[in-house]
Amino acid sequence: MLLVPVKSLKPGMSLAQAVHHPSSDGCLLLNKATVLTSTYIDRLCEMQVSHAWIHVPGFEELDDVVSESVSSGHLGLFDAINSSIDCLERRIAVEINLEQYRTAVRGLLSDIVEHADHEVVTHQLASCGSVLAGHLANCSYLSLLVGAHMSGYLRRQRSALPPQVAENTSELGLGALLHDIGKIPMPDELRNRCILDPESEWPEYRMHVQAGYAEAREHISAIASNVLLNHHQRYDGSGFPLRESREPGRPATPLDGSQIHIFSRIVAVVDAFDHLLCPDGTIVPTIVAIHGMRQSKLAGWFDPVVVATLLRLVPPFQVGSVITLSNGSQAVVVANHPEAPCRPRVRVLSAPVEDVGSCASRRVLDLRMSRSMFVAAIDGVDIRKYLFTGELEPVPVDPSEMRQCATLPAGGS
Ligand SMILES: [Fe+2]
Ligand SMILES: [Fe+2]
Repeated sequence: MLLVPVKSLKPGMSLAQAVHHPSSDGCLLLNKATVLTSTYIDRLCEMQVSHAWIHVPGFEELDDVVSESVSSGHLGLFDAINSSIDCLERRIAVEINLEQYRTAVRGLLSDIVEHADHEVVTHQLASCGSVLAGHLANCSYLSLLVGAHMSGYLRRQRSALPPQVAENTSELGLGALLHDIGKIPMPDELRNRCILDPESEWPEYRMHVQAGYAEAREHISAIASNVLLNHHQRYDGSGFPLRESREPGRPATPLDGSQIHIFSRIVAVVDAFDHLLCPDGTIVPTIVAIHGMRQSKLAGWFDPVVVATLLRLVPPFQVGSVITLSNGSQAVVVANHPEAPCRPRVRVLSAPVEDVGSCASRRVLDLRMSRSMFVAAIDGVDIRKYLFTGELEPVPVDPSEMRQCATLPAGGS
């Protein structure tokens, strides 16, 4: 199966995965195996669904890359928190749905552990992230994912605890799921802000951490409520909230480094990443969000071990994605290399992806082995300026390839 932009769908294509509403209550729009008609495609466009998984003969090897149980577990979190937001807006206590949250977090956590190598479907994250419930569900999922892949670090950071307790991330998932509930009573202009905006310094915006903490602290554990209070404390000691000094007359002091609980440090990272995937309600290619995490403005804000873990788990180009190579041809990502994330293994298409019956070819290209060929665009967006090698250096680009790229389809960069 391949991940195809909705604008490239054609009648007669068959869905390899169900399609859910991107910003409503996670409701099912189309079942797996539905054969698309032009009416269905028009409706998906109207609902701003960005991509769909499509059966394409010759690409059956990719059918297992996406874990359906993890995807539906993520949407289960979305359902759990979204159905509560109306109640929470009416100031009904958060405790009413606690058991539902806990069940959803536990279920997703066990699926993440069981499908440890599953691909992170960033399109699903970005679709959900435009609304608060989606953002909370995304952060809970990504926090559990990161936590599951850094158990050694968790043990070291929580060394006073027995190892099994230190590795237990269910309270992390719950804290992440509720981390922004203090925004619920806020007007939209504040609710939709994030720490990456200059307005995040507004006192009214900063209040959401104390408000959420006050709302939830009596109903959830101290560890989970600590996430609500401290997810905007930055590793370098900036951020908020400030706390009263224990010594009279001394200025208020922020937490920094390992003084900030590891669960709050994890949520701080995934919170920023989720906002970068869907800035201003617009979905961007994953590599753009990854580039955003590496911008100098954020230097020092986050625990570098957590950032490195997240970026290892979320490759710039998802397996199954259709990309445009620097020579203008289309290809499908079939495998990623952790040591060279921007140089995946691809299969070059012999025809446009819209031509599902004949686009598959046997021509595999490992971009690690190519000096001049690279991924130049995805979803019509020129991504050359976002490419990086192992660390931060740009991928060396052959000038002749740059000329060929000038003919690539235009898109927002
Ligand atoms: Fe927040
Ligand atoms: Fe947030």
